[in-house]
Amino acid sequence: MKKDISKKIESLKPSGIREFFDLVIGMDDVISLGVGEPDFVTPWNIIESAIYSFENGYTSYTSNKGLFELRYAISEDIQKKYGVKYNPDTEILITVGVSEAMDLVMRSMLNDGDEVLIHEPCYVSYAPTVSMAGGKVKRINTTLENNFKVMPEDVRKSLSKKTKLFLLNYPCNPTGTSYSKGELSKIAGEIKKSDIIVVSDEIYGGLTYDYTHTPMFTFPGMKERTVYMNGFSKVHAMTGWRIGYTCGPEWIISAMNKIHQYTILCAPITGQIASIEAIKRGSEAVNEMKKAYKRRRNFIVSGLNELGLKCHLPEGAFYSFPSIKKTGMDSKTFSNALLKSEKVAVVPGTAFGENSEGFVRMCYATNIKNIKEALFRIKRFLKSSR
Ligand SMILES: Cc1ncc(COP(=O)(O)O)c(C=O)c1O
Repeated sequence: MKKDISKKIESLKPSGIREFFDLVIGMDDVISLGVGEPDFVTPWNIIESAIYSFENGYTSYTSNKGLFELRYAISEDIQKKYGVKYNPDTEILITVGVSEAMDLVMRSMLNDGDEVLIHEPCYVSYAPTVSMAGGKVKRINTTLENNFKVMPEDVRKSLSKKTKLFLLNYPCNPTGTSYSKGELSKIAGEIKKSDIIVVSDEIYGGLTYDYTHTPMFTFPGMKERTVYMNGFSKVHAMTGWRIGYTCGPEWIISAMNKIHQYTILCAPITGQIASIEAIKRGSEAVNEMKKAYKRRRNFIVSGLNELGLKCHLPEGAFYSFPSIKKTGMDSKTFSNALLKSEKVAVVPGTAFGENSEGFVRMCYATNIKNIKEALFRIKRFLKSSR
């Protein structure tokens, strides 16, 4: 039989993170600064709400769009925090994480050859998701000199007649970079001059350390041009529950729901019930986790800079993105050698884009003791490889 896989899928490269973590599996005593997820267990009141839901027999499908109570709670939360109203009936969709939402928006919006602007370095799934939907990625390179920020003029220069979407992520995975209100307002200004939609992945918005996070939809004229994505995985330590949500114009949400209803039916009910608890009564636990991440961020970033691995101060998420250029190694060689000789797992920068050579991602969602030990081992590694 001819093994004829779709050309689009055949040409996809495996994720650079997974590829690397296959090496870690089976090794003992590894300190992992690799996988991007909270080291905290989901707060107990959220777990309890899920247990209670089982006891009460909540084991069915929900509406395709998700439980109305959850959509309503999201709408209320957004209105309370930002003064913007999303209709829970028509402008909010509950998905299986932001991952599903990203796939849905690309497939809903793109015709073959449409361009999507993506800043690099960026989250590993963006470019493959665009390609799988038939779109073409157009890269905006960001640099350490600008703290990996997208400059408004970069957006302007990258636009073409074929540009349909601009995919923006802040705070950013892998750089932790975020934006002040003033910086975002300038980017919004560029977008408004064009006819494109922003897909704004703000999954780490609740983990912004030095100022208040400002969503893209809050700027005048931007609600109708923004597909806002958020979820419970990172901020509430709920990666395994698989719940995300999208708020956006009705015409986009209903197109996304068309695909969602045939492919997924609905997000899992248990996760949705737990998310209602998270959004209504989760803020105290989030504040505690946030305090811990901030302490760890300050510790790892100053430690890396002391070792001569130049690292900007990430404004959010739980990633540091130091330069390893002074070692003379490329990021894959550095990561492999560090893992082999000192058992510290980090992710090569190239997993996050072609332009990200010379950097590695170190996730600091682990305790200070581990970070301290990792820095000690990295110091020893740098000495021995001089
Ligand atoms: C920027 C970004 N977006 C989306 C996701 C996917 O999150 P979810 O668990 O909601 O699918 C991740 C996960 O690492 C991420 O870093």
